[in-house]
Amino acid sequence: MFKGSAWDEDTGVTYAFKSFTRDDMNGQTGKSGKQRKQNRRKKVEKDRLHKKEVTSLSIKKERTKKGRFKSDIGKPVEKEQPAGPRIASSGSLGNKLRTNLKGSRFRYLNEQLYKASGSDGLSLFQNKPSDFEAYHEGYRHQVEQWPMNPLRKIIGEIKKLPATLIIADFGCGDAILAQSVPHKVYSIDLVSVRDDVIAADMANTPLKTGSIDVAVYCLSLMGVNLRDFLLEANRVLRKGGLLVIAEITSRFNSIDEFIRNVASCGFQLERRELSHKMFVFFRFSKHQTVAKDSAVAKSFSLKPCLYKKR
Ligand SMILES: C[S@@+](CC[C@H](N)C(=O)[O-])C[C@H]1O[C@@H](n2cnc3c(N)ncnc32)[C@H](O)[C@@H]1O
Repeated sequence: MFKGSAWDEDTGVTYAFKSFTRDDMNGQTGKSGKQRKQNRRKKVEKDRLHKKEVTSLSIKKERTKKGRFKSDIGKPVEKEQPAGPRIASSGSLGNKLRTNLKGSRFRYLNEQLYKASGSDGLSLFQNKPSDFEAYHEGYRHQVEQWPMNPLRKIIGEIKKLPATLIIADFGCGDAILAQSVPHKVYSIDLVSVRDDVIAADMANTPLKTGSIDVAVYCLSLMGVNLRDFLLEANRVLRKGGLLVIAEITSRFNSIDEFIRNVASCGFQLERRELSHKMFVFFRFSKHQTVAKDSAVAKSFSLKPCLYKKR
């Protein structure tokens, strides 16, 4: 005996084979010709009946004028999609494209900032301020992917300092630091996104010499002229004032070399924190004034932080 099932492509119906003897299958046993003829006739009749059964089932699967199976009427309708790649809806494709474009624009602007001098960065955004918003939107999105936001850690540290101290936040972005601490904060960036943000290249700011107690650079040592930024910090800080830096670990070839370069701009290392996998934190204090034209401070930069396409 053989049993089985088959799927009929035309009708969409799965049906079970009836049982057959080996004779039915190959028609040769030791039986007489008359018996074989009778068996063949029986098989033809069985097949006829079976076909009828299948046809009657397929009536239930008959299609309506709109092409639906009549038996499917009342069931939820699945939306037909146009030929081509399967997508959830045209709206989500639009969103995906927009997200990709935004991502590319952010990566392009980010790269420009890392590879240019501060003054070129200033021209970049002054010529097209909407790029600044595009950069920051992308940056905010990046921060959300990180296990921590280094700015939060810096805010925590500033809060522990006397509220009378005056802070300068160089490369402030959305000026979150100023909004989070009780101190007087001068927020500086290439474009002013708020009334209290000073638009300037942080190599040349309008801040008064010796007027600042704490200079903060949170992931903002972008550009190729870090010496110019740190000599400006040296100018505006009072003696003994603090220089707080957070940077992405992968930007450093050598942490010790970076510390030496910062020291050449008139700073002394107070503390470094290398325990976090992704970020490094430094605290220096100003121990001497170094003039901008001094040959003691050498030009230096860090590797750019280029984000990968996700
Ligand atoms: C990665 S974002 C960090 C923003 C902010 N510090 C934070 O942690 O959210 C770096 C910021 O530095 C600013 N920046 C880069 N080079 C600058 C320069 N030469 N002068 C002023 N701001 C600069 C950028 O415009 C950007 O807003």
